[in-house]
Amino acid sequence: APDISLANVQAHLNQFQTIATNNGGNRAHGRPGYLASVNYVKGKLDAAGWTTSVKQFTYSGATGYNLIADWPGGDPNAIIMAGAHLDSVTAGAGINDNATGSAGLLEVALQISAADLAPDKHIRFGWWGAEEVGLVGSTNYVNSLSTAEKAQIDAYLNFDMIGSPNPAYFVYSASGQPAGSLALQQTLTGYFSSIGVQTELTSVGGRSDHAAFARAGIPVGGTFTGAEGIKTAAQAQKWGGTSGQAYDPCYHRSCDRTNNVNATALDRNSDAIAHSVWTLAGEGGGTNP
Ligand code: PHE
Ligand code: CA
Ligand code: ZN
Ligand code: ZN
Ligand code: ZN
Repeated sequence: APDISLANVQAHLNQFQTIATNNGGNRAHGRPGYLASVNYVKGKLDAAGWTTSVKQFTYSGATGYNLIADWPGGDPNAIIMAGAHLDSVTAGAGINDNATGSAGLLEVALQISAADLAPDKHIRFGWWGAEEVGLVGSTNYVNSLSTAEKAQIDAYLNFDMIGSPNPAYFVYSASGQPAGSLALQQTLTGYFSSIGVQTELTSVGGRSDHAAFARAGIPVGGTFTGAEGIKTAAQAQKWGGTSGQAYDPCYHRSCDRTNNVNATALDRNSDAIAHSVWTLAGEGGGTNP
């Protein structure tokens, strides 16, 4: 898998910050900064040759939008999906939560295009709306699928907060998740161990957009650098940073801006997305015609 450029991911973060700043300070469900965020990601994907579709839903009197992107080719009965929520809370711009996951995923998509990847499996990415008001977009998407369409999805990887300023390196635990999730956990832990970074398994329960996929029996995994939880002394030993302080002291606050991101954590996790998608989808026999 390619080494994802931190500078490119940071450039996307800067665009999301500008979108928030120009739209009342946030990118929340039902606010103009959300749709502007969708249009930014869609514009980059369309220009890179992805097939995109914007799927609307209604929640709390406002229209919500999921952005679904398919990379042409690969086995349509073996789909590797990855996703990130694109909305923020109303309190702020939502840069660590979750412009980081959105930007990392976008940059991986652009590198799939740059590589003209011809994977064995079909690759589909999702940018979810209305996560912050109850996982609404991802739940709407999974509920919209037929039984046959759900069965085509081999795996779903979720990336929600991957640049916390006082970072942990958490990988979603497969324990209690559908059969097949252990392979996803191991793909992610294996990547971090290959770059010399220790990880801990975390039970994210129903706290992010993987939950609807797991309920549908689809194997799930993901990474997370921490939210309101407090870094322990042992964690500061292995990962650096400050023990006794939150992984993200600006979680759901107005200070979740571009300076609320640890660049090393963002870079490593963006590379982990690339590695896992390349590995799980398979590199195929060559390039697209
Ligand atoms: N979903 C939470 C939020 O957006 C953050 C979170 C992600 C919590 C992953 C736990 C695990 O606020
Ligand atoms: Ca990198
Ligand atoms: Zn949040
Ligand atoms: Zn989040
Ligand atoms: Zn790799």
